[in-house]
Amino acid sequence: MPATVVVGTQWGDEGKGKITDILSEDADVVMRYQGGNNAGHTIIVDDEKFALTLIPSGVLYPQVTPVIGNGCVVDPAALITEMDMLSSRGIDPTRVRVSANAHLVMPYHRKLDMVMERFLGKQQIGTTKRGIGPAYTDKFARQGIRTQDLFDPKIFRSKVEIALKEKNKLLTKVYNQLPMDPEPIIEEYLGYAERLHDYIADTSLLVWEAIRDGKNVVFEGGQGTLLDVDHGTYPFVTSSNPTAGAACAGAGIGPGAITDVLGVTKAYISRVGAGPFPTELENEIGDRMIEIGGEFGTVTGRRRRCGWLDLVALRYSARVNGLTKIALTKIDVLSDFDTIKVAVAYDSLDQRYTNFPRQHRVLYNCTPVYEELPGWNQDITGVRSFAALPREARDYIEYIEDRAGVPISIVSVGPERAATFER
Ligand code: GDP
Ligand code: IMO
Ligand code: MG
Repeated sequence: MPATVVVGTQWGDEGKGKITDILSEDADVVMRYQGGNNAGHTIIVDDEKFALTLIPSGVLYPQVTPVIGNGCVVDPAALITEMDMLSSRGIDPTRVRVSANAHLVMPYHRKLDMVMERFLGKQQIGTTKRGIGPAYTDKFARQGIRTQDLFDPKIFRSKVEIALKEKNKLLTKVYNQLPMDPEPIIEEYLGYAERLHDYIADTSLLVWEAIRDGKNVVFEGGQGTLLDVDHGTYPFVTSSNPTAGAACAGAGIGPGAITDVLGVTKAYISRVGAGPFPTELENEIGDRMIEIGGEFGTVTGRRRRCGWLDLVALRYSARVNGLTKIALTKIDVLSDFDTIKVAVAYDSLDQRYTNFPRQHRVLYNCTPVYEELPGWNQDITGVRSFAALPREARDYIEYIEDRAGVPISIVSVGPERAATFER
């Protein structure tokens, strides 16, 4: 049975939630392997819209065990809010399992995220201010607090007290903030411990058993390849590894278990927050993409920056993730354009780059080299097969898979579940 990694090939918001939901129809386990509630995955079922941040998109199917892996950072308040939201809408959230090794996002992480961004001034990253960066910083500094620590009040207390000794120095002396009192934090989090007790599990074992028993497992990435802390547009990235290889470490399985890597790719490209973006369109075309594509952040409501599809970046994503397939989303948004451009290279100074440049300053000063394809100028949201698409849309899809070197196996022509077909 397949174990598929679903990974964003751009700067996030490619439609991973929708595609994961589609794959979940036949899945047994759907697991997030990194990130936290900085992710925002929207799924539309009939007329209902679900915005998920932490719980894997598979949760909408009753046979799925949704799992939050050890590679994630968990804000327990956000998790409980999301579980309550699902419960109030008739979806059973008691199936959710959370790794005992996942790190907790603490109130001081959120505070630090806020003040560190302010401190950066013009250099700020434009984070989601969910405390994600500071939580991962503590994890790798070996000062983090894990979900399992919630169940030993003595240890939990001492970890919070030690953490705050340092964080309060940072907050007061560097960032000119008031210190934080450990007591209300300890009380609040021990309250979450009671609530979350039954959901914390050895999720590495859980997923290993599922794979051993031939079950269908989907690993859902948050963010996207260009936001990867190693392979993205550093420092304008998130603080974890969304790339497919990280699914193993973030889930606790070996690489041999993965059978497919599905790269979710929007038919154009968007970015929220700061950082270089070669094909960005700060003009009427970009505005139309934002408007037609509804390009506003699921988490923060921020307007997303939009631009033409970037094949230099897509080929790079195909390589660093080892993509075996692509799911192409939001192709319907391009129906309104007479011609469609695609970047195939970057020109910078006297050089032409067909590979994603090693020096990221090139991303700031390059001019994309575009090829232009004819548009189809008709509504395709009702189309349910490749053959039924207008010829220009079929040509666009074939052009992308040819240039990316990866087959496009799923096409999405609208936000709803039904507006999808396989090839
Ligand atoms: P994710 O973070 O990768 O899961 O993507 P988001 O959910 O943040 O953003 C994708 C947005 O596009 C959501 O609002 C989806 O409902 C919507 N969407 C997904 N696929 C399609 C599609 O094929 N066409 C259109 N028009 N919208 C889509
Ligand atoms: P999904 O899963 C788009 C961006 C933020 C910021 C940078 C760092 O919905 O695709 P962070 O809060 O992670 O420290 O912010 O990363 N970012 C996202 N952009 N989609 C996301 O998730 C994102 N998660 C983080 O805007 O630029
Ligand atoms: Mg999103």
